[in-house]
Amino acid sequence: MGVDANTLLRLTDLSVDFESHEGTVHAVDRVSFSVAPGELVGLVGESGCGKSVTANAILGLTRMVNNATISGAIDFLGRDLVTLPESEVRDIRGKDISMIFQDPVTSLNPVLSIERLMTEGLEVHLGLSHGDAIKRSIELLQLVGIPKAAGRIKDYPHQFSGGMRQRVMIAIALSCNPKLLLADEPTTALDVTIQAQILRLMKQLSREYHAAVVVITHDLGVVAGMCERILVMYAGRIAESGPAKALFGHPHHPYTVGLLRSVPRLNEPRKDSLQTIAGLPPDLAHLPPGCSFAPRCWLATEACWQQVPELFHTDAGRLSACFHRDKLIAGAEMPA
Ligand SMILES: Nc1ncnc2c1ncn2[C@@H]1O[C@H](COP(=O)(O)OP(=O)(O)OP(=O)(O)O)[C@@H](O)[C@H]1O
Ligand SMILES: [Mg+2]
Repeated sequence: MGVDANTLLRLTDLSVDFESHEGTVHAVDRVSFSVAPGELVGLVGESGCGKSVTANAILGLTRMVNNATISGAIDFLGRDLVTLPESEVRDIRGKDISMIFQDPVTSLNPVLSIERLMTEGLEVHLGLSHGDAIKRSIELLQLVGIPKAAGRIKDYPHQFSGGMRQRVMIAIALSCNPKLLLADEPTTALDVTIQAQILRLMKQLSREYHAAVVVITHDLGVVAGMCERILVMYAGRIAESGPAKALFGHPHHPYTVGLLRSVPRLNEPRKDSLQTIAGLPPDLAHLPPGCSFAPRCWLATEACWQQVPELFHTDAGRLSACFHRDKLIAGAEMPA
């Protein structure tokens, strides 16, 4: 399974099921997408739609979960992360692929100093001596905007504010020059101004280091300003994907229309113009037989209840898993 020079990562029909007492949870259902080197991709969708499970699968973490079954392929530079032996995945994890987790408070080990947290990867993956690893760590902390970095390297995570801890996370994630950075809700725990700074920093560093970034979030505002391409996920499947500007400007899936309606806009002062999507996401252990969005969709017809829509090509670089995509392309609007 070869990948071309324009593909860093390619997921093909990735599925992740969890056995639970409720039945089989189809957390990720035949998801396919690819990421180019240096590309900024946003993976968005409501809570529970399978975003983190997708990221964890790429990082080879779901294979450690004993009630999980994974199928499909995750091709990373010609190696399939689904079938690769754990020893080789361990080599890739933290070096070529790194992750920024949602909560910097719990994801930075509180009993380890910043020095320990930062130098370990540099020593293990890049083979630096401890002295060189400290020097590099200080440079990285400066790069992410930690003031007086040299004097703070012996500090512990709790001695940093939330925004600073997130910067430390980014410094650790970038320390081994990853080719792919998975950022799972990287700014959710931060206030709005810090959030904007961190997103700008991630974008700038991705350009500088030519690292591709997959930003995972339920917040469209986060990816709108940062990502070039968007993947919209619903109930474990990709509902729509395409270039950010085109997708946000004119969505080709009713779920994306609904998501966009629920985002506040500065130029829309009337609060009542904000709408949430009626109903709840389906239970992933008991998915409806047809389109999983049908129970909440204003366009749904008989066919939608019976058959799962595959992803259809709708425009340059755009895909939509909707039988009624033509209506949306023609400008059909969601009723108020
Ligand atoms: N080990 C597990 N066993 C059973 N179900 C699981 C397990 N891990 C995840 N799930 C289920 O998989 C589904 C997808 O979860 P996931 O964490 O990927 O959602 P998410 O899109 O990241 O949501 P959020 O925005 O809240 O982080 C959820 O229904 C979750 O309960
Ligand atoms: Mg998540």
